[in-house]
Amino acid sequence: MAGLELRNPTMNAAGVLGISAPLLKRIYEGGAGAVVTKSLGGPQRMGHSNPTLVSVEGGALNAMGLPNPGAEYFVEMIRELKGDGVPVVASFFGGSIEEFRDVALVLSEAGVDALEVNVSCPNVAEEMGMLGADPMNTEKVTEAVKEVAKSPVIVKLSPNVTDICEIARAAERGGADAITAVNTLKGLAVDADLRRPILTNVTGGLSGPALKPVALRCVWEIYEAVEIPIIGCGGISNWRDAVEYLLSGATAVEIGTAAMDGGFDIYGKIAEGIREYLVENGFKEVKDIVGLAHGG
Ligand code: FUM
Repeated sequence: MAGLELRNPTMNAAGVLGISAPLLKRIYEGGAGAVVTKSLGGPQRMGHSNPTLVSVEGGALNAMGLPNPGAEYFVEMIRELKGDGVPVVASFFGGSIEEFRDVALVLSEAGVDALEVNVSCPNVAEEMGMLGADPMNTEKVTEAVKEVAKSPVIVKLSPNVTDICEIARAAERGGADAITAVNTLKGLAVDADLRRPILTNVTGGLSGPALKPVALRCVWEIYEAVEIPIIGCGGISNWRDAVEYLLSGATAVEIGTAAMDGGFDIYGKIAEGIREYLVENGFKEVKDIVGLAHGG
């Protein structure tokens, strides 16, 4: 996919997981085709104060606030993972287009296999805005990252927009090699006893099964709008969910919330389920079923 050759089409989703090399290594040992870091920025960030994660019906709501040790600090961890033969996708963000470029350069020089540009975090809007809400900004960020990237550039989009295809086309114009669809859907949880929002940030991003129909619709629409490959993300809990994403137009999938609930061997189980589905239905490889539900 986009020049990446992976042992299978599963990865973890950047979000709550992926803040250290040992944890990412366990995800790889659990069977993932590649691992995705927690989004990394320029300077270290503490993120929002707790509570930052709450279970809700059909999934979870998080507002971590992009806590991370900073891209420079993470370089050593990337090298450690690469030394162990783990393919690494670095998710990253910036407060400005220049910062996106600077962080991309640091991560690129660390030798990551791909860069995932997070223009879609719903939890820092007041502080740094969401560049991925605007097609022109999305195109400019993608162009700036492409200028310095030594590996494929994947742009992770938000479902919290009016027309996700417009943003996907902007990323493609900017030179993106692939798109991840989607980040979390902005939501709210209120405690009836305390009579106040549960998360310190008030709102958070919804992930898990409740997000799946929305994310699947986004993949479907983007597949019809752009030529570049799509990584589907949102509410995948088993191989059947993953196959639905592939049929809708995804070439690979990211799984986050289900791994928090069910453990890291979920990646291997889903990869094996996809493989058995291909064999049982007479297909040779994943790409044979990508977008098949769109028909002729
Ligand atoms: O708040 C967070 O750290 C979430 C990040 C994201 O969804 O991109």
